Amino acid sequence: MAFDPEIKDALIEQVRRFVRERCVPAEADVAEADKVPDALVDEMKSLGLFGLAVPESYGGLGLDMETECLVGFELGWTSPAFRSAAGTNIGIGSQALVLFGTEAQKTEWLPKIATGETVTSFALTEPEAGSDAGGLKTRATKDGGYYVLHGSKRYITNANVADLFTVMARTNPDEPGGKGVSAFIVPRDTPGLTVGKPEKKMGQQGAQICDVNFDGARIPESARIGQEGEGFKVAMSVLDKGRLHISAVCTGMAERLISEMVNYAIERKQFGKAIMDHQLIQGLIADSQAEAYAARCMVIDAAKKRDAGENVTMLASCCKMFASEAVGRIADRAVQVFGGAGYVADYGIERFYRDARIFRLYEGTTQIQQIVIARELARAAKKGEF
Ligand code: CAA
Repeated sequence: MAFDPEIKDALIEQVRRFVRERCVPAEADVAEADKVPDALVDEMKSLGLFGLAVPESYGGLGLDMETECLVGFELGWTSPAFRSAAGTNIGIGSQALVLFGTEAQKTEWLPKIATGETVTSFALTEPEAGSDAGGLKTRATKDGGYYVLHGSKRYITNANVADLFTVMARTNPDEPGGKGVSAFIVPRDTPGLTVGKPEKKMGQQGAQICDVNFDGARIPESARIGQEGEGFKVAMSVLDKGRLHISAVCTGMAERLISEMVNYAIERKQFGKAIMDHQLIQGLIADSQAEAYAARCMVIDAAKKRDAGENVTMLASCCKMFASEAVGRIADRAVQVFGGAGYVADYGIERFYRDARIFRLYEGTTQIQQIVIARELARAAKKGEF
């Protein structure tokens, strides 16, 4: 269902103002402190950002995918650490519950997720199961009306601040791959659950990733999301949506970098004229603009199709692959246009260059998106649809 156009415009305008007036001036400090200030997180909560993708009936804004992506473009305009503060609640941390939760699970958790009182995390990746998510080894062993979890998750975004984890674990050790996997909601205070210390990263300072360890964590059967053995499909459906959201954020960052490039290039003079008047600089900027525009069109098209009820597995992968690769190229060109100034910290361009790198890795590497795209095409062809 399409979101009311007036409310949609007002929301996007509010987010744009918040991003440009409150977040952009704080970017360097957030990177330095490796933390988004609590006051800004509180502002994000009052704007409703934590509940963007939670249905209105559970206290969220219940945005359709198109509107969520329009908000994602705005959030992408600043350091991704700001988006990440609410990002897991908007996306991969909450959506298993939204899409597959029971009424009781939704009623218990979604209102608190929508306000940001409960921060969520998505625990799929493991030391030996990154791209091969179906190879995960964390065990969930049935014990009466409970499951007992053993294993480790790796590089889990927001784990250090999370109150609730969506955890994919193997309930059937005899069933290889995704078929033996189930999904669970596991509160942070469950005895036997511990969170490691945040990793030192290349970029995106202000957003943390940590290990999450389970050593006999006991959770009731009612904490399972979906049926036993359906957890891999739950995770993949969540990622279909998450990949679209990330594509929107990549697009927003690409647009910010183009703005930085153009504004710098019209002022900076070399060889007696603004560098914007040099054709080789124009080439770098024009290529960037065409790619950002293409990414924006792709994301909106795929989001509209998802809103219309279409399966967008392949389109989400196309968007994620294209937008994350494009913003990587654009960040590289931005360093080139800024020259030496792009390489020193004061201008913030090198920070975006580092921040952008993870987009090609998390929520599925570019190579995984290629696999998904090719498989979906082959599947359609075998059914005579292509
Ligand atoms: N929606 C619903 N079901 C899906 C699906 C989708 N998008 N994709 C696959 N499935 C189903 C398949 O239909 C299949 O079902 P059947 O057995 O009934 O036929 C089942 O799931 C297994 O699918 P595959 O055979 O395709 O599984 P696979 O093992 O070959 O792997 C993969 C597929 C695409 C490579 C998958 O493992 C994948 O996406 N890997 C990347 C993982 C990833 O993105 N990780 C990121 C983690 S989150 C993060 O980065 C952020 C953080 O905070 C840590």
